[in-house]
Amino acid sequence: MPEELIVPNRPLAYRCPNPTCDRTRLEEAPLGLACPNGHVVPFIPGTTVPVFCKEPDDASEYASGGSAEKHDNALRWVLSTFHADEAGLRGGLVARLQLRKGGRVLITGAGTGNDLPHLAQALGGSGEIYAQDIAQQMLLTGVERHRAEVERTGIRLHFSVSDATSLPFADGEFDAAYHFGGINLFADVRRGIAEMNRVVRAGGRVVIGDEGVAPWLRNSEIGRMLIRNNALYACEVPLGLLPETVRSPRVSWELCNTFYVIEFSVATDPLAIDIDVRHLGARGGSVRTRYFGQLEGVDPGLRDRIYAEAERRGLSRVEYVESILRRALKEPPGAADRG
Ligand SMILES: C[S@@+](CC[C@H](N)C(=O)[O-])C[C@H]1O[C@@H](n2cnc3c(N)ncnc32)[C@H](O)[C@@H]1O
Ligand SMILES: [Zn+2]
Repeated sequence: MPEELIVPNRPLAYRCPNPTCDRTRLEEAPLGLACPNGHVVPFIPGTTVPVFCKEPDDASEYASGGSAEKHDNALRWVLSTFHADEAGLRGGLVARLQLRKGGRVLITGAGTGNDLPHLAQALGGSGEIYAQDIAQQMLLTGVERHRAEVERTGIRLHFSVSDATSLPFADGEFDAAYHFGGINLFADVRRGIAEMNRVVRAGGRVVIGDEGVAPWLRNSEIGRMLIRNNALYACEVPLGLLPETVRSPRVSWELCNTFYVIEFSVATDPLAIDIDVRHLGARGGSVRTRYFGQLEGVDPGLRDRIYAEAERRGLSRVEYVESILRRALKEPPGAADRG
C-alpha cells in the first residue's frame, strides 16, 4: 500500500443546501459562504464556522447552556460503569476507518470533539478533518478544546453547524465518515446513514457506533436494568437502514456489549448478483422469472395436471408452462424449451 493517498489535494468546497441549487459550490465571503445564486450561509459571529442548520436553543440537551459539561458527566458515567478506557475505545473505532496519511475524513455529530485527536493521529500528520454537529454550543466547545492541538499536527480541521441528515458536501468527497454516540436520536436515522455513505468515495469506510444492548442481553436482568436506567440502551442496531450497496458490513459491540458498532465499505455499483441463473429441479425458473414472471391464479386442478404433465415430460414446471404459453402465442420455443 502506498503511504500517500492516490488523489492528494482534491479541492473540497461546502455546497449550497438550498434545494434549487443542486449543491452548487460555496465561496468564502466576508460574513459567511456565498453561492452564485445569492444564498448566504452565515459564520458564527467572530469565527469562520458556517451555520447551515442549527438546533434552536434549548431544543435538546445538546443545544442548551452547560451542554458540554453535562455531556462530559454522562461520558464519565459510561466509562466508569463499563470500565472502559476512552482513548482505547475511540482509537480502536477510528482504526476501523483505515485512514491513511493525506486522507480526508468526516465526523458527524462530533459534539465536543473527543474523537478529533484520534482522527488526527490516524491521518499521520497530513490530511483534513471535517467535523459537524447540529448543536452550536457543543461544536464551539469542540473548537475551543481541540482546534489548536489538532492543527499543530499538520491536519486541516474544518467545523460546521449542520444537519447530519442533509450534509453540505458533494458525493464521494471523503475517504471515510465516522459517527460516535448520537445517531439513535437523529430524527431520520436512515438518512443519517445514507448521507455518510453518499459523501464517501467508493472503497472508503463508514463506522457508526451508539448505545444499544446486544440482542442476547435485552431480556437479561442486566439488560433490563440498563434499559430502565436509560431508554437508549433499548435501541436496536439499525442494520435494516443500511444502503443496499454496502460491502463487507460488520456489526460488533463495545462497552460490555452495550454499544453497537456498524462498519462497512462504500460502493456505488449494485451487488453483483446474477438473477438469470436457471434452477435445476421440479420448479425450475430463475430469480428473475420467479419474481417478475408471476402469472394470474388458475384453476388449482388444472395447475396440478400441468405440474404432473411437466414431471412426466422431464421438464421443470417453469419450462413446461413457458413452452405452453409460447405455443399459444405462436412464438418460437425459448432456449429452455429447446434444452
Ligand atoms: C452524545 S453526543 C456525542 C458527541 C460526540 N460524538 C462524542 O462522542 O462525544 C451526540 C451528538 O449528536 C449531535 N446530533 C444529534 N442530532 C444531530 C444531527 N441531526 N446532525 C448532527 N449532529 C446531531 C448532538 O448535538 C450531540 O452533540
Ligand atoms: Zn444556492
